[in-house]
Amino acid sequence: MKLREIRPNVYLGGAVDWDRRLFDSLIPTPRGTSYNAYVVKGSEKTALLDTVDPAKWETLQAQLAEAPAIDYVIHHHGEQDHSGSLPFVLDLYPEAVIVTNEKCKKELIDHLHVPDDRFQTIKDGEQLSLGDKTLHFIFTPWVHWPETFSTFLVEDGILFSCDFFGSHLATTDMYASRSVVDGPAKRYYAEIMMPFAAQVAKDLDKVAAHPVKVIAPSHGPLHDDPAAIMDAYRDWTKGEPHNTAVIAYVTMHESTRLMVDRLTTALADRGVAVERFDLTTVDLGEMAMALVDAASIVIGTPTVIRGPHPLASYAAIVANALKPKAKYATVVGSFGWAGKTVEKLAELMGDLKVEFYDPVMVKGMPRDEDYQELDVLADRIAEAHKGLPPR
Ligand code: FEO
Repeated sequence: MKLREIRPNVYLGGAVDWDRRLFDSLIPTPRGTSYNAYVVKGSEKTALLDTVDPAKWETLQAQLAEAPAIDYVIHHHGEQDHSGSLPFVLDLYPEAVIVTNEKCKKELIDHLHVPDDRFQTIKDGEQLSLGDKTLHFIFTPWVHWPETFSTFLVEDGILFSCDFFGSHLATTDMYASRSVVDGPAKRYYAEIMMPFAAQVAKDLDKVAAHPVKVIAPSHGPLHDDPAAIMDAYRDWTKGEPHNTAVIAYVTMHESTRLMVDRLTTALADRGVAVERFDLTTVDLGEMAMALVDAASIVIGTPTVIRGPHPLASYAAIVANALKPKAKYATVVGSFGWAGKTVEKLAELMGDLKVEFYDPVMVKGMPRDEDYQELDVLADRIAEAHKGLPPR
């Protein structure tokens, strides 16, 4: 696509990556993604805001033919999906100056070996005039790296937010619909931002203090209804968990599945919504999204040798890393002779601020008394969830 005008002399560029299916060798991107770059032409100077993943450099290069002079490259974030083409841009525009903060400068030097003399560093709240357009820099750390900042284009009310408010979504639509906010944008928050929710909430308040008319992130469509995405972020970062339990499980010889089936039914009968994930086929992003709102996390696993099934360990590690706002957790599953499954999973989830319900571990196939124990667990979960908002 060519540069697309957002406002007079403000353009969306970059590349849509329709075929990308995995990010960071970790995060599934079932609907692709985009690497948005922006061009702002002032009456005196022109700025390029961020670049693209190096695999898409040729797309940005073709767009830049429409911008023969680039005076500044505003670089919000050191990660290579935005910075990877920076060396090519610097070769193309030998006079261009990289405008970024001190932390990002260090990252760009470390990751890309950018020469020290190409930088102009800025501080929080500083402004840069392009003539009739003014760039106001707002430091928004931990969305999702420590250096990340945003730029507010004062005259047009556009917030260039980098990963903040982004979504992994390949689309020709310039603006996000409500379904994008509730789908890919929430998924992106869950995967990338949730571990830093407390700081993200502060960053949100900081950018919301400006009269933002359009949010222009570095992935996915823009937001021409800033309140919709900001309100959603407010709920995800600060809201109460919902009356929902995430059950992530794996089974080898059906004992754990029988237990998970019983617990699912017992919870539903008690008015608790269940989001259930078979770990042999799980889409990590879907599970992360469910964790944004869940009040309880249940890991279901058989015992393998002396500990949890490796897929259950993986789920616990992921939950621990994402730091959702869940208040409770437990383990259900089976064993053949012995093991430390519960202890090991509790250790893997050690960073979560959760109260543990008593686990239900069964020798072999569950019996009547084991099912009754699962019903008691469901009673406890329902009691603990009393008063929480519905999903
Ligand atoms: Fe889209 Fe953190 O890079």
